[in-house]
Amino acid sequence: MSGFDRAVLIEINAKVDLLAYVSQYVTLKKQGREYVGLCPFHAERTPSFSVNAEKGVWHCYGCDAGGDLFKFVQRHENADFPTAVRMLAARAGISLEETPGAARRRSEREAIYEANSAAQNFFVASLRRNNSAQAYLKKRGIDDTTARAFGIGYAPDAWDELGKALAKSSIEPPVAHAAGLVRQRERGDGYYDFFRNRLMLPIYNLTGEVMAFGGRALDDEQPKYLNTPSTSAYAKGKHVYALNVARRAASSDGALIVVEGYLDAIALHQAGFANAVASLGTAFTPEQARELRRVAGNLYLCFDGDTAGQAATARSIDMLVEEGLAVRVVTLPAGTDPDEVVLGGGREAFQALLDSSTPWVDFKIEITCSRIEARFANKGEIAREALAVIAHVRDPIERDQYVKAMARRLDIDEGALRRAKYSPTASATITGARRDTDAPIVRAAHTSHPEPPSIERDLLQIVLSRPAFLSAVAARVTADDLEDDRFREVFAQLLAHRDEVERGLNPVSVLSENEESGEFARLALSAPSMSVEEDERRLARVLERFDRRRAERRLSSVDAEMNVLLTEGRAVPSALRDEYNALAVRLFGLDAVGRG
Ligand code: UTP
Ligand code: MN
Repeated sequence: MSGFDRAVLIEINAKVDLLAYVSQYVTLKKQGREYVGLCPFHAERTPSFSVNAEKGVWHCYGCDAGGDLFKFVQRHENADFPTAVRMLAARAGISLEETPGAARRRSEREAIYEANSAAQNFFVASLRRNNSAQAYLKKRGIDDTTARAFGIGYAPDAWDELGKALAKSSIEPPVAHAAGLVRQRERGDGYYDFFRNRLMLPIYNLTGEVMAFGGRALDDEQPKYLNTPSTSAYAKGKHVYALNVARRAASSDGALIVVEGYLDAIALHQAGFANAVASLGTAFTPEQARELRRVAGNLYLCFDGDTAGQAATARSIDMLVEEGLAVRVVTLPAGTDPDEVVLGGGREAFQALLDSSTPWVDFKIEITCSRIEARFANKGEIAREALAVIAHVRDPIERDQYVKAMARRLDIDEGALRRAKYSPTASATITGARRDTDAPIVRAAHTSHPEPPSIERDLLQIVLSRPAFLSAVAARVTADDLEDDRFREVFAQLLAHRDEVERGLNPVSVLSENEESGEFARLALSAPSMSVEEDERRLARVLERFDRRRAERRLSSVDAEMNVLLTEGRAVPSALRDEYNALAVRLFGLDAVGRG
């Protein structure tokens, strides 16, 4: 939990009630000891999202998400752990102490946000004063409400108007420079405005701060778009445009529409597609895929209909599917983009394209197969490539259908196609081509772990659901007593944070940064509801089983040691014999016989 004093987490746990927090966003009904409602993280009609107020954990039985308060905020606000902590601390009125390094980085970032915010105010005011910029907006079909919603502005055709405006807002030139708003003059000192005579499109982060800008030329000036370079508030290829707006819509409907351009996303929003985002022209990076994944499980990929667009789509698909997203491909009429589609045919025209979208596997098979016509490729080679695509489909029935379709498409014998070799790697086996957006998206990784021994599962379940028992457990069990790697690691983490847990930190929070914390939240939730006394008895039985398992292991190693001595004809030391007897008595209740 990098950079934070754990006392802060304990204080947040004490001041922010999970149930009250979640209730702001999800309508919950009491059902037994739990509260249930519709999951905010995937589309569903019957409630499978549940909160256990006592244990401070939540879990969705549909999409398998789960965790504590921090995890909820992370998921819901699409924030990383430190951001979630900061948001909760602000809400609870707790001041955060950070390491000097973290504070320095944060203050630079914050100074940039401040400069960007001042710049944006200036751009918006300039737009109001500039007729040609307003005419351009009109020509692009963007109305005032949309322009306001997206914070659109205008950078005047001048060298230092922004610089002067920033100075008036007490933004020092070096800060404006760090924000990428002004550049240093090559000769002499001083700075000049980076964006000139451009329509300004702010890029917001998820908490609504302006991270960067894209500037659209009003005429044929090159480049068409000038973007803020990477700064400490903005890294290229890590963010997705309009996600701050699309996030809410996506969380209710479970899908995002991904387009290439700024104005494509804006036009779709204006036409009523509130879940549109833009990738900003590049093929997807894993970071962007993860940003999307945190918001929605389903994507409509909507790239230009030209060859470059298709190639970009194909490259992006692998990345997105790898990150666990279910992808459908929207094919645009050649030479048009979504902006032009809605300008020409309105909402209905674009909706029709969405309705005729295809699962990503169909798209990839089609691309692969059409290469036969495009070049002198060998059918066997193409078949193997296409089979590699199909191997990514987890559902065997669906996979079978693809093989059939491909045999037909390539006009080859189905049996021969099935005999063609391909090697699906275990990690590449993912859910894909899901047609039903109401179904949960389950990641293969969840089922690939071997089952831990049941006493280890029981032990963790008790500790996670009754943190008060942790010190009693620590006195009797060490991490090395656990055989399962993941359970051992989680138990070691809990022991390492015993103090905080005793002072009231939710034990699931200790695991917040762990990839699998959802699984452990579920484990805590699935604890049978029993009284403290019953739980004490259950714990005593589990601890007794641990003692016994330890004794059994010791007995078998003492036994092996004695065997070696006896076969070599050497004497067994009496201490060893006594230990053997004591263990045997303990485990089997009778005196060991026939030894030595
Ligand atoms: P396009 O060239 O497809 O432009 O670039 P567009 O989105 O249709 O733009 P309009 O409709 O003519 O205004 C797609 C995206 O690629 C990025 C931008 O994010 C753009 O929206 N891009 C493009 C740049 O960053 N710089 C450029 O010079 C061109
Ligand atoms: Mn366009």
